[in-house]
Amino acid sequence: MNRYYRKCRNSNMHCVIVCLLVIVGRALCLTTRPNIILIFADDLGYGDLACYGHPTSGTPNLDKLAAHGLRFTDFYSASPVCTPSRGALLTGRYQTRSGLYPGVLYPGSKGGLPLNETTIAEILKPLGYATAMVGKWHLGFGVNRTFLPVHQGFDTFLGVPYSHDQGPCQSLTCFPPDIKCYGMCDQGVVPLPLLLDDKIIQQPVYFPELVPQYNKFASDFITLSAKHDQPFFLYYASDHTHYPQFASIKTTGKSLRGPFGDALMEFDNSVGIIMKTLKDNNILNNTFVFFTSDNGPELMRMSRGGNAGLLKCGKGTTYEGGIREPAIAYWPGKIQPGVTHELASTLDLLPTIATLVKTKLPKVQLDGYDMGDILFRQSMGKRKTMFYYPVDPSEKLSVFAVRYGKYKAHYFTRGASHSDTTPDHDCHLSAFLKAHDPPLLFDLESDPSENYNLVNNASMAELKPVLDMIQQVKVEFEKSMVFGESQIGKGIDPELEPCCDPACTPKPTCCQCSPL
Ligand SMILES: *[C@@H]1O[C@H](CO)[C@@H](O)[C@H](O)[C@H]1NC(C)=O
Ligand SMILES: *[C@@H]1O[C@H](CO)[C@@H](O)[C@H](O)[C@H]1NC(C)=O
Ligand SMILES: *[C@@H]1O[C@H](CO)[C@@H](O)[C@H](O)[C@H]1NC(C)=O
Ligand SMILES: *[C@@H]1O[C@H](CO)[C@@H](O)[C@H](O)[C@H]1NC(C)=O
Repeated sequence: MNRYYRKCRNSNMHCVIVCLLVIVGRALCLTTRPNIILIFADDLGYGDLACYGHPTSGTPNLDKLAAHGLRFTDFYSASPVCTPSRGALLTGRYQTRSGLYPGVLYPGSKGGLPLNETTIAEILKPLGYATAMVGKWHLGFGVNRTFLPVHQGFDTFLGVPYSHDQGPCQSLTCFPPDIKCYGMCDQGVVPLPLLLDDKIIQQPVYFPELVPQYNKFASDFITLSAKHDQPFFLYYASDHTHYPQFASIKTTGKSLRGPFGDALMEFDNSVGIIMKTLKDNNILNNTFVFFTSDNGPELMRMSRGGNAGLLKCGKGTTYEGGIREPAIAYWPGKIQPGVTHELASTLDLLPTIATLVKTKLPKVQLDGYDMGDILFRQSMGKRKTMFYYPVDPSEKLSVFAVRYGKYKAHYFTRGASHSDTTPDHDCHLSAFLKAHDPPLLFDLESDPSENYNLVNNASMAELKPVLDMIQQVKVEFEKSMVFGESQIGKGIDPELEPCCDPACTPKPTCCQCSPL
């Protein structure tokens, strides 16, 4: 923070002028540039929050945001898994464009979110914003740590480079009592590291203290920015509620919902701390807060995974449970409290924020729309469609499903291991790829659970105009789509796995260092 000033003090005349310009520019901007906070949950489903109907979740802080903010019923992430969903959030572009497919990045992945993609942080930084990220990145590590947040527009970063099950389970136990993994974590890779900017400060991560550290980092960042009258962007990407569940001593055993509920409670508590910090610094009414989740719940973890509520299936699938998410926008005095049924997506955050801070959009093909109409004018949103890519998009199969207004057409369906164990067999890995011609068609307003296909021989003639329209929208979208080179397809090099002691042997187990 305030790096400008620090740099300037030790420098020459040219810099003094730049400094003055920055100060004057900042003074002019202060009244118009709001702070921005994006809170992103992990594998949290449509039915997981109390304000979305869960009977035993303890989420008082998110519920309060919903009660005093705008709650979305039809909000979509761009992918049913982590890496592509996060890339789309930060760039406003489908993961196919940036090459974040198929699947997710691994500890030794060579690829990452390409540096020439423009993130929300990179839009805000030139306007004088302080930018920070806390939590799970999952957009690459790479040779020389090239892909970390500090190279994607964030001044500072405290967090982990990928999911915490992408390391041996034994480093993931909690206290008290020890929470076991109840399933598989990745073996044969380095223990999960904790990074500050691009330095490993702990390996393995000590989970009972992870979120308290995040909370302190986030509130210090907000407080310091407020003290300097500097607008800020905070991206809080929680590790909760990704499997395996963990929580600090304060929340372990405290919820009615078991380990998942404890983890969710700890996450909700972080939201409360962030909101209190805004209030204490008297900047609540100059801060745009947006909350959502990266993808649907990991149903294969059973009661230790999340819940998609009344939506079909969960993580890994293109059914509603895979990508439709809880979402809340909050800005007292600017956003009227209520519920909206307008279509919106994580893809829309970049264009919305760019409009909010009155800056130009990056000169690339974007897939998002400014949500200003929905947020500030209680009117209809610009988004009429949503395209559902599978975990492994290909040009050959293209999108699996299209939402157009209230209708959703499935051209392909497939289950996923992430959604195993539910009573609905369509969700399971054993439900192999199936093409549908004509597509399955659902009315999501009268049938959000995708139970009743509207298309049959009797209804075909009546529905033809709808199906033709959807087909036309799909073809137009596909014409605009250029697949970027696959970043995940670049493969894995074990040498690239983050190690706090690069010279140690034998790898990967020797990569363990005490907290600094
Ligand atoms: C980034 O660079 C790659 C490789 O040169 C190129 O294919 C891609 O279109 C670029 N992306 C953007 C957003 O400029
Ligand atoms: C990584 O850093 C080393 C040492 O500075 C340098 O020689 C090498 O070219 C870098 N590699 C890449 C891909 O940037
Ligand atoms: C924001 O809150 C402060 C302190 O409560 C108040 O003085 C100010 O007028 C408010 N600004 C707006 C735009 O409502
Ligand atoms: C229409 O009827 C034929 C013959 O019974 C059947 O094969 C086909 O699947 C039906 N089409 C639809 C869309 O239900």
